[in-house]
Amino acid sequence: MCTLSEASSSSSRLLFRQLFEKESSTFTYLLAYVGHPDRPALLVDPVDKTVERDLSLIKDLGLKLTYALNTHVHADHVTGTGLIKGMMPDVISVISKASNAKADLHVEAGDKIVFGKLFLEVRATPGHTAGCVTYVTGEGADQPHPRLAFTGDALLIRGCGRTDFQGGSSQQLYKSVHSQIFTLPKDTFVYPAHDYKGFTVSTVGEEIKFNPSLTKDEGTFQGIMENLNLSYPKMMDVAVPANLVCGLQDLVAKV
Ligand SMILES: [Fe+2]
Repeated sequence: MCTLSEASSSSSRLLFRQLFEKESSTFTYLLAYVGHPDRPALLVDPVDKTVERDLSLIKDLGLKLTYALNTHVHADHVTGTGLIKGMMPDVISVISKASNAKADLHVEAGDKIVFGKLFLEVRATPGHTAGCVTYVTGEGADQPHPRLAFTGDALLIRGCGRTDFQGGSSQQLYKSVHSQIFTLPKDTFVYPAHDYKGFTVSTVGEEIKFNPSLTKDEGTFQGIMENLNLSYPKMMDVAVPANLVCGLQDLVAKV
């Protein structure tokens, strides 16, 4: 982790932190461009329970939070985006257009989210949900190398998100991962939305080789996904409605 932050910051002035919320095993990522006095920053997949921690870190590091991004409408936790906007109304909330969720900015494949001289590129990776996207750091001499891919639940370390609800499709997920993530340079870091085994990061090359289900042919993959027999997520009935309105921002006003 330390090595990556230092290596990237020397070439591209990226400040990068991986944060963890233990109840839902969710990773939140903080990225900032520190080559300009404004130090613009963004969060990927903030969680309501850890918003205070994240904003305090942002303050400590002297960053200006500009964007709060979600990779998709989560079913296992409430996004922190609504709380962040309640405290910092100028922060722009971002989610995909295909998610049908409320946000200030709806993104589609090919869009760029710019912070300072750095940017994230949006790749559509539906399959876990219909609106899942992967955010990938830019390509170019002044962008971080290796690249960083924030894959949400489309690709996990040695796994992937379930495909049995929220418009999920195992066929679509297989296609998304193979065409949009496995085509990235092999040294691209894979930073997922969750890990349940203690892993923190992988690479595209590593997952192409060792992912137990996505390395199989499409038919076998579909068979695996259809026979997982997973239980109904305990937070689903709370999390999905809240996340469709950006995580409580409007609900709070009505309570
Ligand atoms: Fe999810």
